[in-house]
Amino acid sequence: MAAKNLAKSRVLHRSLRETPPKAIGGEGIWLIREDGRKVLDASGGAAVSCLGHQHPRILEAMAKQASKLAYAHTAFFTSEAAETLADQLVGHEPGGLAYVYFVSGGSEAIEAAIKIARQYFIEAGQPKRHHFIARRQSYHGNTLGALSAGGNAWRREPYAPLLSQSFSHVTPAFAYHEKRDHESESDFVARLAAELDAEFQRLGPDTVAAFIAEPVVGATAGAVTAPEGYFRAVREICNKHGALLILDEVMCGMGRTGTLHAWEQEGIAPDIQAIAKGLGGGYQPIGAMLTTNRIVDTIRQGSGAFQHGHTYLAHPLACAAALEVQRVIQEENLLDQVKELGKHLEKRLTERFGSHRHVGDIRGRGLFQAIELVEDRATKKAFDPSLKLHQRIKAAAFEGGLGCYPSGGTSDGKHGDHVLLAPPYICTPDDIDMIVERLGSAVDSALKSINH
Ligand SMILES: Cc1ncc(COP(=O)(O)O)c(C=O)c1O
Repeated sequence: MAAKNLAKSRVLHRSLRETPPKAIGGEGIWLIREDGRKVLDASGGAAVSCLGHQHPRILEAMAKQASKLAYAHTAFFTSEAAETLADQLVGHEPGGLAYVYFVSGGSEAIEAAIKIARQYFIEAGQPKRHHFIARRQSYHGNTLGALSAGGNAWRREPYAPLLSQSFSHVTPAFAYHEKRDHESESDFVARLAAELDAEFQRLGPDTVAAFIAEPVVGATAGAVTAPEGYFRAVREICNKHGALLILDEVMCGMGRTGTLHAWEQEGIAPDIQAIAKGLGGGYQPIGAMLTTNRIVDTIRQGSGAFQHGHTYLAHPLACAAALEVQRVIQEENLLDQVKELGKHLEKRLTERFGSHRHVGDIRGRGLFQAIELVEDRATKKAFDPSLKLHQRIKAAAFEGGLGCYPSGGTSDGKHGDHVLLAPPYICTPDDIDMIVERLGSAVDSALKSINH
């Protein structure tokens, strides 16, 4: 394929054959292109922009922080912004999470989670624990540790020789594809729990440090919630074997599903949690690893330091932006709004796609929902991956003024297409209607382009 506009940009873009249009502004739920066209940001990029764009309170908080202090290295200093944000997040010790380690994004948060789990066991006198069990069709980030944890086949494939052998993968709690036809939901949960337990046994239960999972699977499978009781079963298995539970809420957390933490709706809490995207809402690059007194106290009484670090830990400007994002969410009761708008989104998606012959599943929670496209609803047969249906939908949607997040490889890393929606929490019901209408047109036009 010929390179388009290649001479114009020296940025190594995601596609090396095309330069994307320039975004020159933002306003609430809208992004503005250089040619003046507006794009409704229905996925907040990748579930990032929870307050939309150019929110005046966040801009003001950032300007204030920048005018005082933009950066101070954490080897020498802490900052007011980091301390206040930590108090805001874990001052009340939600689910026993009492400390926070601020990093620059989701992958770094996962790296920190993996490392603190490992270091905790070394210092707790259990150095044999170095295995991590994760799930197929998961995504935990693109750095090598996070990629080792992730179970997404195509993302792992080129780097397979570089990935750690300490990670193994079990079946995801993905009912649409993994639950057998005559299996009840509770039997499905029991089967997944038995498989996880068997994986502990295979590895040697006293060698497993942690199980890692996304409470609601995001990018790789499209807003997949677990069946009732799954996370309670997983928590019990971890407890039984003395392993930790790491929850990756990089995408599904910070209010996206209607509660600040997605695990609140599962009746359990993790030992370690990764957050990012909605933490700073895209105003600054920031992620965080949250953990418990038990883990921190063990290390404090042992070596006395978490043996990890980056230059931009707890960046003051990033912390100030995230603090204001979290204050806005709290003060404006946006979690209630996410719940209400989530119901509206589900209703509208069901009206538009519920009997669509190529939409096999509509799923998700809160403002984190997806549709999965299939060639045949009865058999759940996916479209031929070479048709790249998800890319066609993305292009048609963008052309029609809608930003959404379609991906392929939904069921097994190769087959399947879905579209993920993660609209800003500040949407109105009318905005949701417009999102669904534009998505409907994009899906139909993409299907038409492959003669369906
Ligand atoms: C669940 C999950 N974990 C980790 C990451 C990695 O985050 P980042 O891209 O900020 O490194 C992502 C990114 O999409 C994610 O969705």
